Amino acid sequence: MSSLYETLDERFRRAFDAISPNADPVLRPSEHADFQVNGALGLAKALGASPREVAARVLDAIDLSDLARVEVAGPGFINVYTLDSALAERLRALLSDERLGVRRRDSRRVVVDYSAPNVAKEMHVGHLRSTVIGDCLARLHRFVGDEVIARNHVGDWGTPFGMLIEHLVDMGEADAVASLSVGDLDSFYRSARQKFDSDEAFRDRSRTRVVALQAGDPETRRLWRILVDQSVNYFSEVYAALGVELTASDVVGESSYNDELASVVADLDAQGLLVESEGALCVFPPGFTGRDGEPQPLIVRKSDEGFGYAATDLAALRDRVSRLGADEIYYVVGAPQSQHFQMIFAVGRLAGWLPDEVHSEHVAFGSVLGPDRKMFKSRTGDTIKLISLLADATERAREELLRRRPDQADTERETLAGDVARAAIKYADLSTDRLRDYVFDLDRMVSAEGDTGPYLQYAHARIRALFRRAGRDGALELAPDLSDSAERALGLALLGFPDAVGSTLAASQPHRLCGYLFELAQRFSSFYEECPILSASENQRESRLVLADLTARTLAVGLDLLGIAAPDQM
Ligand code: ARG
Repeated sequence: MSSLYETLDERFRRAFDAISPNADPVLRPSEHADFQVNGALGLAKALGASPREVAARVLDAIDLSDLARVEVAGPGFINVYTLDSALAERLRALLSDERLGVRRRDSRRVVVDYSAPNVAKEMHVGHLRSTVIGDCLARLHRFVGDEVIARNHVGDWGTPFGMLIEHLVDMGEADAVASLSVGDLDSFYRSARQKFDSDEAFRDRSRTRVVALQAGDPETRRLWRILVDQSVNYFSEVYAALGVELTASDVVGESSYNDELASVVADLDAQGLLVESEGALCVFPPGFTGRDGEPQPLIVRKSDEGFGYAATDLAALRDRVSRLGADEIYYVVGAPQSQHFQMIFAVGRLAGWLPDEVHSEHVAFGSVLGPDRKMFKSRTGDTIKLISLLADATERAREELLRRRPDQADTERETLAGDVARAAIKYADLSTDRLRDYVFDLDRMVSAEGDTGPYLQYAHARIRALFRRAGRDGALELAPDLSDSAERALGLALLGFPDAVGSTLAASQPHRLCGYLFELAQRFSSFYEECPILSASENQRESRLVLADLTARTLAVGLDLLGIAAPDQM
């Protein structure tokens, strides 16, 4: 069944269409009514009628008797008041629908490129954002029936590997492995860099090593593998700690495309798209200019004949379309790489690797800031380890649980503390418009009050507790009574879940789903204040349990789509 919103929207579209082919009515939730339709104003002139007359004609052309009462308002808006009977009947239908009204669509094959940390380098908060947002998008697509292929485009190739391998040789394999396996990636990288900057002989060895690596020298490849494997093991630990659905099998690093790079260049050349510029091979896609207005190149092969980041992304794009058969590709990468991706897509279109019908999108995001509103760094200027952020959040959650429920078993508390910590960190990241920067404020994130992950978890657990007190599992399948305004407001919100999921997915904007869930939880809490449940008469109790049950289930499914657990008891 279509959602309430979709049903109304469709009927209004048809009615407007009957009046004018240029109509573009907009139906949106409203403070003055349940929904308001806007669209008559724009047609008035062309139709030579007043906006109110146009609105009246629309109402003549529409039959909503089963769904809503409508009236013309103000200068030609249409106010829509949904009938309680229609709301109640739809709510009853949701009770037996584990998808809570969200339909499956025709499955699309969707590649989500996310996380993508770099080998022998710590994952920083930017990778946190990519990981958390990407995981949420992957879950949403899967939920609506898409086939999701996750791609962890790990940075595992390039000139730094010369110095990293030489440093590994200097340290001795066993010690290097020991250091990397405890996740000491940054100090490993820093030591290599230091030697590279200060020691001429080391620099020379590193350069020779890069050449050997590129030439496929077996011993060099073996040493490189050690670095890659150790790092990927470490990343996998971070993903598990974060409760993210990425595994080692999703890692298809930059190096995986090595064998394709020459053919990428040859293909571009054959199509006459390559231009030599200062020794480098470039494509100049139209419409891209540098700061001083001159055409901007995408460098496909550098002047030293090495391939870079762009060549790899072109090869990956070609692979994702031609071999994986992607219908949609999402790149969850920070906003500074925006120009890079726009150029990759433009060149992909020029070369015919990215056909018009394949949707390709850079899902960009802003920075994580420290309390001083500068880039989030430790006091010594180092990257802050993701895993230690999670440890800090877990510690806070543990303290809070100890205070609230000192009698709880330790194992139970540990599990919950982890769930709360992940909720805190992920929700804080997902709940602002991804393009905006946000301040990493642990106190606020772990708080059980306000627009936070733990608040939503508590809201869900409280409803579950209510059912435990009622000695029940769920509600009877009946149409709830909506005569109280708080009941009605909650019911209306519950019916909006499919639209919240749809709009989140359409814009790749998880904060929309967060906003929906937060508002739902708030409406539940007003309802709960105004409408006693367990102490009410039997009819009223059953009716209100329907609303409570649907709220808890919507919160649980919604949180799961965000990658957040919804414990039954907290
Ligand atoms: N490894 C890169 C970084 O840390 C991100 C890669 C993003 N994905 C891609 N296909 N380029 O900035």
